Amino acid sequence: MQNKTLHRNIFQRILGICATKKPSDESCWNFEEGKIIVDLARAPELAIVNGAIRLEAKEIPERVLVIQGDDGQYYAFQNRCTHGKRRLDPMPGMQQVQCCSIGKSIYNYNGKIISGSAKDDIRTYPVTVDNGKLVITL
Ligand code: FES
Repeated sequence: MQNKTLHRNIFQRILGICATKKPSDESCWNFEEGKIIVDLARAPELAIVNGAIRLEAKEIPERVLVIQGDDGQYYAFQNRCTHGKRRLDPMPGMQQVQCCSIGKSIYNYNGKIISGSAKDDIRTYPVTVDNGKLVITL
């Protein structure tokens, strides 16, 4: 599979501004007993292939990127590039996510580093779907 670059302009890359937004309804998720639970009915971003949200709050130990992948499955990643801690975005059609920074590190859905400045893999989290709820175990 040939690598390509997600389009971000140079200013976005320098400043590390990712394309993925926080959920439009921030109350669509909560964190309890080591699990993030996302109510899919209230997270329309995840209803489409390559839709994504980033979950960030002091209650969770790590920033998390959640995507619906090219294959229609859900994936959750530590949203902190192992090169310089910038955030990630999904790469439509590539089954990969890419760092928003200049180094453009790319990881596959298993978190394995594919290319870019990073040398280490990124952590991924198990995701299950239970009765309309996405359960991410941190
Ligand atoms: S911070 Fe991700 S490539 Fe540098």
